[in-house]
Amino acid sequence: MGTDQIRVRVPATSANLGAGFDVFGIALGFPADIIEVQKSEKTEIEIMGIGREHIPTDPRKNTAGIVANALGKTVKITIHRSIPLSSGLGSSAAPAAGVAVALNWMYDLGLSNDELVQLAAHGEKAASGVEHADNVAPAICGGFTIVHKNKVISLMPENIGIVAVHPDIVVSTRTARALLPKSIRLEDVSFNTGSAASMVVGMMKYDIRLIGESMDNRVIEQARSGLIMGYSQVRKSALDAGASGITISGSGPTMIAVCRMDEREKIAQAMIQAFRDNQVKSEAFITTIGKGAEILQK
Ligand code: HSE
Repeated sequence: MGTDQIRVRVPATSANLGAGFDVFGIALGFPADIIEVQKSEKTEIEIMGIGREHIPTDPRKNTAGIVANALGKTVKITIHRSIPLSSGLGSSAAPAAGVAVALNWMYDLGLSNDELVQLAAHGEKAASGVEHADNVAPAICGGFTIVHKNKVISLMPENIGIVAVHPDIVVSTRTARALLPKSIRLEDVSFNTGSAASMVVGMMKYDIRLIGESMDNRVIEQARSGLIMGYSQVRKSALDAGASGITISGSGPTMIAVCRMDEREKIAQAMIQAFRDNQVKSEAFITTIGKGAEILQK
């Protein structure tokens, strides 16, 4: 604590997991961004790595800069990006989460994880227009997270195979949210409540089959699936190859499948091939549920 410079590793995240819209999230083992924060006379942001040309460096518009401003701290922030932009893998959440964690340490602020998540969600609003905390929560806490009433509940399920396939399609969270219906049928609420409840039990029991089956959901997925070329074929290919379940990661276009650890490679290949059959290039992240933000250097 009390240091002038710090580096934080912040993981990619996947929100919703089907029925847990704006509530559930998981941290992925990789990819991850590295966020460097250094005390400075004024707040400046430098971005390196993939998609840098599309991200604002004005601290009032950048998710990380907004977090620093909210705490009244002036710092130089360098973001080394590996999480693809507008992918549904929490690329705007990671810098906000990283700066919140870094400043808490550097200035010995004593903020709790719940407070850090709220602060980072405030930064996340710059990207999506809404303070949804389902990406920043797992980015900070790791594991599987539930955000409810400004509090975070987290679990660390082990040996859950994750295959996240990111197609070369750009979907902004703002656009994907604008597609959502304003009201939903009561029977769909019931269905989603069942999926959400069984998802939590699946995560508690490390039950890959139950987690996968609980990814089935109504409303959000139907509304967004049209943004993802090849959605139905990719979904079918993953299930045929042995995935327990599959859904859209966050606001998409990444599709995320849950499976046994030893089946990940085969499922990734099947999903990539299904995108290719739809003339869409894609990349796979073969990983598992991982830890949250880590301070690398104090
Ligand atoms: N819950 C958010 C959404 C996550 O689905 O819009 C965005 O990654």
